[in-house]
Amino acid sequence: MTDHARPIRKAVFPVAGMGTRFLPATKANPKEMLPIVDKPLVQYAAEEAVKAGVEVLVFVTGRNKRAIPDHFDKAYELETELEARGKAELLNTVRGILPSHVSVVYIRQSEALGLGHAVACARPVVGDEPFAVILADDLIDADPDGGLKQMVDLYERQRCSVLGLEKVPIEEIHRYGVVAGEQIAEATWDVAGLVEKPPREKAPSNVAVVGRYILTPAIFDMIGRTGQGAGGEIQLTDAIAALLEHERVLGWELQGKRHDCGDKLGYLKATVEYAFKHEELSEPFREYLRGLNDAGLI
Ligand code: G1P
Repeated sequence: MTDHARPIRKAVFPVAGMGTRFLPATKANPKEMLPIVDKPLVQYAAEEAVKAGVEVLVFVTGRNKRAIPDHFDKAYELETELEARGKAELLNTVRGILPSHVSVVYIRQSEALGLGHAVACARPVVGDEPFAVILADDLIDADPDGGLKQMVDLYERQRCSVLGLEKVPIEEIHRYGVVAGEQIAEATWDVAGLVEKPPREKAPSNVAVVGRYILTPAIFDMIGRTGQGAGGEIQLTDAIAALLEHERVLGWELQGKRHDCGDKLGYLKATVEYAFKHEELSEPFREYLRGLNDAGLI
């Protein structure tokens, strides 16, 4: 089987960032552990990967990130306690965080040199096969199978790297990796170029890369040759731009709703919308908001 014919079995989660936008909440806790209603962001991301067929989750972690391995690990004391108290449902919740066929690997990124560098740290585990990258602070609400599965479907048809895309308001374009290219089918783009965080007047389009990537293993050599880019960091975007000179790269406009949970307002919006979808909270929460509205507070 050639490399490109392999299924996507591994997903890399770069989680070593400092989360400065959420300080002091992220002083001792990773931003990826911030909950949206009752699940941490990193769990939504892991579940999305598993739904897409991923079997190995590779977390690239840094300082102050011990809560992430703890979250995916067995919690003996908690389980014994819940069992003793007869809390079967909660016990299933904490035991069922990941299905048993999924394994987790942790790699420490000892220096925060950028997203490209973080992905390169996963090379010894990923090896010579295509893989996914998921940025957990982009929360993608896409029923029933999640955003990554849509991209895996395209990968399986085309066998090339696929970037998760979204059209964003032009005044926000400087916050993203931005695509130049041509739309070739419904939601599908042929990527011709990529720029990391361009000023608005230099942005090639309003189509942004949003925290989901399927990459061929050739990306590792590209990262190895990538120098410092925007913000003085080794940017994944620049490595993908270099990959374009050797391989085809497609973009997929994710079908669903993305919440930018790396941003406080985006995080709050996600919390409200996930509360609306929550079985127990949906009604009482709506009622509470109606009350605020009636009182003229919103
Ligand atoms: C990263 C990427 C950027 C991408 C963004 C999506 O930036 O470098 O290309 O558009 O994620 O969320 P960050 O948000 O980490 O600055």
